[in-house]
Amino acid sequence: MFRSGSTFAVSAFIMAVDRPLLASRNSSEASNDRDIAEEDALLTGHPTKRSSDGRRPWAFWREVGLFVWAVVATAFVIVLAVFYQKSQDSKHNYKSPSGKRNLIFMVSDGMGPTSLSLTRSFMQFQNGAPWSEQLVIDQHLIGQSRTRSSSSLITDSAAGATAFSCAMKSYNGAISVTPDHEPCGTVLEAAKKAGYMTGLVVTTRITDATPACFAAHVHQRGEEDRIAEQMVGDYPLGRVVDLMFGGGRCHFLPNSADHSCRGDNKDIVELAKNNGFNYIDNRKAFDDLKGGSGLDFPMLGLFAETDIPYEIDRRNETDVYPSLHEMAEVALKALSEATRNSDKGFFLMVEGSRIDHAGHHNDPAAQVHEVLAYDKAMTSVLDFLKHDETEGVMVSTSDHETGGLATARRKPFTRPYHSQYSY
Ligand SMILES: *[C@@H]1O[C@H](CO)[C@@H](O)[C@H](O)[C@H]1NC(C)=O
Repeated sequence: MFRSGSTFAVSAFIMAVDRPLLASRNSSEASNDRDIAEEDALLTGHPTKRSSDGRRPWAFWREVGLFVWAVVATAFVIVLAVFYQKSQDSKHNYKSPSGKRNLIFMVSDGMGPTSLSLTRSFMQFQNGAPWSEQLVIDQHLIGQSRTRSSSSLITDSAAGATAFSCAMKSYNGAISVTPDHEPCGTVLEAAKKAGYMTGLVVTTRITDATPACFAAHVHQRGEEDRIAEQMVGDYPLGRVVDLMFGGGRCHFLPNSADHSCRGDNKDIVELAKNNGFNYIDNRKAFDDLKGGSGLDFPMLGLFAETDIPYEIDRRNETDVYPSLHEMAEVALKALSEATRNSDKGFFLMVEGSRIDHAGHHNDPAAQVHEVLAYDKAMTSVLDFLKHDETEGVMVSTSDHETGGLATARRKPFTRPYHSQYSY
């Protein structure tokens, strides 16, 4: 019914516009006037004797009248629309939009559906919880994404993060450069340029692919020495990151120093300090940040020579390394306080970086603890968003799966659903 009704309405409309269109296409100005004359004759019942160019004065005034009416009617509609908009706004009590927003972008690097499902079961087992008990991330899961890079069916973290930061597909290994090796502007760089504050919190080297893609541009992810230089501001945009927490100290120390992994003798910690950074490199200094209220920007905190140990090991070394959620909480508090009197908020990227490594190494025990650490960091982020006075949004996503984790179980010669059948 509804369908045929609307079809009818559409075809009627076409007929209405069709006729004059066809008529005027085949007729001259003169024959158009003749039509009007004939119409008048039919209406009045008197033959009219108008020449083709002789318009009567009242026709002119009729057109003027119509024009004035059209202008007045249009103005009236506009005024009405503005009034309606205003009254709707006051009815819903909208705050005038300040434009101030915070964005926390989370990456569960290398986490596929099976990592999540194994972690959920592990949590239920460990807590003696019912099978209906969910992870925090479960309650926010809205879908899946298909990921592939321009060079491979399976994207790596570099192409994945280039897609997140630049909204462009590139090749595996690309650090925010396009397939033809041109640097692409990142969301963090854009945020900084727009007056937002920015931060990166990870558990790998801060120079690893995911964080690098937000504030560096190189052809291959392996160029971590160069990435370190760019991230502290040694590139055309200058310093764009206000806060960095993670590992990877060895790429910042000159190769004459102990525990350096640089190929050259450049001192990137010194370079960072020259660019204004406050530098810390241990747990004690992290604790001195007093949960974020004692943090001075810009801040570079590198708590491990390379990667921060897997959570399964780190939990026994809490006096040496901060956890992902601790780092996220300090960053959130500090960024929130620093932007309190600004009309712009902040952009913070938080990565559960080593879910990926545990997958690559086929280490399910390490992997569930990495996912649990990510889940805890997500809890911190959600808690922050609930209590912070500035509107904010959390986006969480994975870039790819690593290791091909499978959790299927079938004993030889059994079916999982009928234990009495055994053949
Ligand atoms: C490490 O910490 C876990 C959790 O607190 C504990 O169960 C385990 O015994 C600790 N391992 C060592 C070697 O101390």
